[in-house]
Amino acid sequence: MPSFAEAQADNAFWVLPDNYTPTFVVVGGTSGIGEGIAQALGRHTKGNVHLLIVGRHTHEFVECDLSSIANVKRVCASLVQRFPRINLLVMTAGAVDLGSNTTSEGLEKASAIVYYARWALVDGLLPSLLAAKDAGEDTRVFSVLNAGMGKPIDFDDLGLKKKSAEAKSLGTLIETGSAMATYMDYMVMSYGKRYPNIPFAHASPGAVSTPLWGRSPSLSLRITGLFIKVMFFTRAKSITQCGEHQVYALRHIPAGASWTSPEGDDFGRDRVCGGDDEAERLWAHTVEVVGAIHA
Ligand SMILES: NC(=O)c1ccc[n+]([C@@H]2O[C@H](COP(=O)([O-])OP(=O)(O)OC[C@H]3O[C@@H](n4cnc5c(N)ncnc54)[C@H](OP(=O)(O)O)[C@@H]3O)[C@@H](O)[C@H]2O)c1
Repeated sequence: MPSFAEAQADNAFWVLPDNYTPTFVVVGGTSGIGEGIAQALGRHTKGNVHLLIVGRHTHEFVECDLSSIANVKRVCASLVQRFPRINLLVMTAGAVDLGSNTTSEGLEKASAIVYYARWALVDGLLPSLLAAKDAGEDTRVFSVLNAGMGKPIDFDDLGLKKKSAEAKSLGTLIETGSAMATYMDYMVMSYGKRYPNIPFAHASPGAVSTPLWGRSPSLSLRITGLFIKVMFFTRAKSITQCGEHQVYALRHIPAGASWTSPEGDDFGRDRVCGGDDEAERLWAHTVEVVGAIHA
């Protein structure tokens, strides 16, 4: 388990290829965990990469509201056209709220942002990810949520509309979050199975001091966030520490599916609940849902 200093020192030895300029895409890089990762990527590559930040607010970024899968598909199509080869896709975007909000596409909003959008991002950017791999370049996909911390999912409530509607307190919100963690575990498992030459990881960041709770539309979650901040004051990582550990993790993941700890270790699939059959059922559902939404 690398300490912050060890992760930082290891990242400092990152040797970039000298025969191409890698393209990195960070979805959620405008705040918190994604911002910490984007900063660490920038630091350790010394600007020798195309670093694209995908989010809602732009300066030099690629604008995209991830709660709309049609938007995600349009952005992917444009990125694939502009960048025929993409070497790294990092996804961290997410938000916390209570109750169920349904998007105009009929999805539960938090699941749309955290799960369906990420699935659609990988799917939409696959042509450029595969082209990079085929050209012999380094290629990886890294999704940060809560690896290996999930609970069994309810196949009668795929998309979490029922569960989210019941989420009126922190306790039920944690339940929804656990289900989502399993969705993400299955997502990397299924992509890893289909594209075994590319590393697909689900990472657990642990507690990180970010604006996540303070930005929630729910007043009670904003207040809860203050308590969480006090409780985890000494234990939470800063976004800089988190960024170093996550960059360490993404640099070391092997081809296929993997699951990584807050420090960046690969802990294997033992903590993933359920197996291939469940992952395939979720995959079939997702193909249908995302496929029905047109750009
Ligand atoms: N912080 C922790 O301790 C912790 C621990 C475990 C897991 N997580 C999970 O990690 C994820 C990120 O958390 P964080 O702490 O980094 O939160 P954060 O600081 O609030 O950052 C959230 C990121 O998601 C983006 N985002 C949210 N809704 C979006 C939308 N509709 N379209 C496009 N981008 C959107 C935000 O972009 P804008 O700037 O445009 O709003 C921002 O870049 C969350 O799912 C959270 O549950 C966090």
